[in-house]
Amino acid sequence: MIVKPLLVSLSLCALTILAPGGAPPSDAAQGKRDAGAAAAPASQGELKLALPFGLDESAIVIPADNPLTKDKIELGRLLFFDKRLSKNNTIACASCHMAQFAFTDGKPVSAGIHGLKGGRSAPASLNRLFSKAQFWDGRAATLEEQSVGPLVNPVEHGFANHDEMVAKMKKIPGYRKLFKDVFGTDVTTEGVGMAIASFQRTILSGNSPADRFDLGGDEKAISPEAQKGLELFRTKARCTRCHSGFNFTDEKFHNLGIGWDTNTVDLGRYMVTNNQADIGAFKTPTLREISRSAPYMHDGRFKTLEEVVNFYNQGGVKNPHQDELVIPLELTDQEKHDLVAFLRTLNGEGWQHIKAPTSFPK
Ligand code: HEC
Ligand code: HEC
Repeated sequence: MIVKPLLVSLSLCALTILAPGGAPPSDAAQGKRDAGAAAAPASQGELKLALPFGLDESAIVIPADNPLTKDKIELGRLLFFDKRLSKNNTIACASCHMAQFAFTDGKPVSAGIHGLKGGRSAPASLNRLFSKAQFWDGRAATLEEQSVGPLVNPVEHGFANHDEMVAKMKKIPGYRKLFKDVFGTDVTTEGVGMAIASFQRTILSGNSPADRFDLGGDEKAISPEAQKGLELFRTKARCTRCHSGFNFTDEKFHNLGIGWDTNTVDLGRYMVTNNQADIGAFKTPTLREISRSAPYMHDGRFKTLEEVVNFYNQGGVKNPHQDELVIPLELTDQEKHDLVAFLRTLNGEGWQHIKAPTSFPK
């Protein structure tokens, strides 16, 4: 199994705690359920994620109808890495979301099936556990919805529709059995989404040197220059106006001006909401593992963190819809250097256990 015992602990009783309906079960019903839970294989019980240091348990987003279980996560892992989950067996989620690049592809914009390129860069897809809206423009309201989107994207997995995907996966008896075990059904689009979403919720990043310094009080965890960078991050450089909280994001959408200096502006969030205020706005991404996930921004325009900091320092790119939180910063060269030193202390742990399966269902 992929998940290290340290990272997740089994909690069978969570099954009853999270039971929908609200009313506490009667003693007799409670007794029956406990007996049932104890008799069920441990892999069917609800998993309680043990979060790396620095991550906030109260911010976890897991829909009540898709509790985490060991078997579901494992099914999701198989699907995430399986290239048969594409029209012509060439693309898996993992083709564009690779562990060593903070689950991005390390490219400005992604290339999917037949080498076709999309218009956006793959964002660091970790700590998804803490977000409701997914994608740069937040068009998927849940991770379940996100998890089946790429399958029917003509430049990603390339299926014409979800029925075509389901028909193809149903030809693999090994998957039919796993879906039966996990969901009690045959392969369904909904099941694919629930399993992949569950797997994605186990890709975490916390316990970075910055966490150990800031929350753990370990004075030596980060260098003096990174300490100055952290101070700037919160004050003069104004980064926490948007990259706020433990996951370094306000989960909101802002127009910094990315793309407004070209003749192909991506309207971002506006395409989802049709709200004028959202023109050119994109979701504030987490900054955890940021030094692994270059190039940066939704169009992948910056190769280095130094370029990113210079962009903010000049006040982004002016346009009629720019967020008023973005203003020129007048940072000195030393301050820019310190800020980048801080950004480099945000690499942590919680994803290193993720490995590609050595074999797939037949
Ligand atoms: C061809 C490359 C490619 C493939 C294949 C692909 N993705 Fe992505 N992924 C991207 C790009 C590019 C984006 C950004 C698109 C956007 O936001 O509009 C993205 C966005 C995401 C996000 C949003 C992260 C966030 O911070 O909002 C998640 C999660 C994700 N992908 C998971 C998956 C899963 C699961 C699969 C397989 C079902 C998958 N991706 C397949 C390229 C790819
Ligand atoms: C007004 C809100 C806001 C402020 C202030 C802000 N950011 Fe951002 N940040 C964003 C948004 C939104 C994006 C994505 C923009 C896009 O691609 O169009 C982003 C993207 C980034 C990225 C690229 C992430 C990736 O995965 O590609 C980095 C790095 C970054 N910001 C660092 C900083 C730093 C350092 C500061 C302070 C100097 C800062 N940000 C200030 C909202 C903000």
